[in-house]
Amino acid sequence: MVGYFEIICGVVALLLAFYYYSVSAFGFWKSRGVPGPKPAFFVGNTMELMFGRIPIAQYLKRLYEEYKNEPMIGLYMRRSPVLILKDPELIKDVMIKDFAKFSDRGFAVHERTEPLSLHLFNLEPERWRPLRSKLTPMFTSGKLKDMFGLILECADHFEKYLDKLAAGNEPADFREVTAKYTTDVIGSCAFGIEMSSMSDEDSEFRKVGREIFCSSLENVIRLKMRVYAKKLYDWLGYIVPDKRFAPFFTKLVTDTMRYRKEHDIYRPDFIHMLMQLKEHPEKVGDIKLTDSLITAQAFVFFAAGFETSSSTMSNALYELALNQEIQDKLREEIKSNLAKHGGELKYEYVKDMEYLDKVFKETLRKYPPGAMVPRRSTSAYTFADTKVSIPKGFLIWIPVYAIHRDPDIYPNPDVFNPENFNKDAIEARHPMTYLPFGDGPRNCIGARFAVYQTKVGLITILRNYKVVTCEKTMIPYQFDTNAFLLAPKGGIYLKLKKLNS
Ligand code: HEM
Repeated sequence: MVGYFEIICGVVALLLAFYYYSVSAFGFWKSRGVPGPKPAFFVGNTMELMFGRIPIAQYLKRLYEEYKNEPMIGLYMRRSPVLILKDPELIKDVMIKDFAKFSDRGFAVHERTEPLSLHLFNLEPERWRPLRSKLTPMFTSGKLKDMFGLILECADHFEKYLDKLAAGNEPADFREVTAKYTTDVIGSCAFGIEMSSMSDEDSEFRKVGREIFCSSLENVIRLKMRVYAKKLYDWLGYIVPDKRFAPFFTKLVTDTMRYRKEHDIYRPDFIHMLMQLKEHPEKVGDIKLTDSLITAQAFVFFAAGFETSSSTMSNALYELALNQEIQDKLREEIKSNLAKHGGELKYEYVKDMEYLDKVFKETLRKYPPGAMVPRRSTSAYTFADTKVSIPKGFLIWIPVYAIHRDPDIYPNPDVFNPENFNKDAIEARHPMTYLPFGDGPRNCIGARFAVYQTKVGLITILRNYKVVTCEKTMIPYQFDTNAFLLAPKGGIYLKLKKLNS
């Protein structure tokens, strides 16, 4: 018979084994001479992140400053080593020169739990490569020019909506105001659907968009599990598969495709590209073009397409409200450009607005929605001019927000200064010190689209209205600790004042 003593010995042995298992990896960085904070049993270095005490942007900025003169920092996410790269040359090697060895982002696809996770952003290199090459032509400048009229149509609706908003003279949450506009743009350009976010307060699309990015308990738990408990999250699919988004987007995409086929409708948009891929599956090699795979691509274009651009617009407006002289200068440029062309806005004219470009870039410097860009090694790798080697399957984090706020790169980094993007200032910096869209072959596929939808939105607001702070404006700016993308805590409340034309 087993006595108490044996049971206690068994439990102690189990605990010791578990303890040993948890800490056994902790010598990894020391043995390679890579500095980093001391990890703690079970949680490694990421307890504050796991429990949402600090946003990843600020967590990495703190480490970045603590290890000021180091090219890299070693961390442990629970017991898995993670490398933070600071040196711009090493970042360039990972993102561009040796991309073949870092073509993965390290995000898992959870087909059962979230069928929509099967998209370009998450896919592993084997499925990502052929899909990316087939979807890239969707974003050429020629295609964007074709779509420019659709963006302008949404800008017209936006203007009417803004008129009503200004007449009310009440503070409004500009995260919501701008998200209505970008939801309509992406709806029209990607799906060929009028999303009526601005005319209809209860627009289904706006509701779904809000739900995807809000820090609800369910979203926070799912996000943490995706990162810290991948296997468990997979199994969860047997019990609680995603019932919120997958059925909605699957119906939307399949219905739209069927309708177009039945009525022989052509539109130069994303749905059309997907239909073509489905009709010619040989174009994407060995990938099985299931309805799930197709819908997931449409989903990521929707999700990545509206939120990042709307938060960039609202962050720009926040800074412009706080810095009225910059707002005036920008408005002057917009007005004189429009006056030159009889009030008409065309694709080419947006390009001519240099100060607008600087304001746009400076906004993404201060507030890059992707505060950290990850890569995963697909084979063993030794970093150039170092003795640091890592095996296959290793996570690298590029601390974009921390780099953008480094005073040695951008003097007075907390000050909003569009002159940071004067030609000579750009030329004086290493290209890897500005990464709002990532870089290399796995950079943001929608960057060009984002530039135009954001700029047209800003032009629409600033040509007719002045944006000012109000008693509800969050000063200083604070970040949401639980959001997936860099986002403010609460809303960005501002007021609009109609200008005399
Ligand atoms: C201001 C707006 C935007 C910002 C700041 C942004 C930022 C980013 C970043 C940082 C990445 C990761 C890049 C890397 O790993 O090197 C990314 C990837 C991606 N973005 Fe964007 N994005 C924006 C707008 C858009 C839009 C409008 C779309 C689509 C319509 C889009 C679709 C995607 C997709 C599909 C990926 C994954 C690409 C791949 O893995 O091949 N993004 N974005």
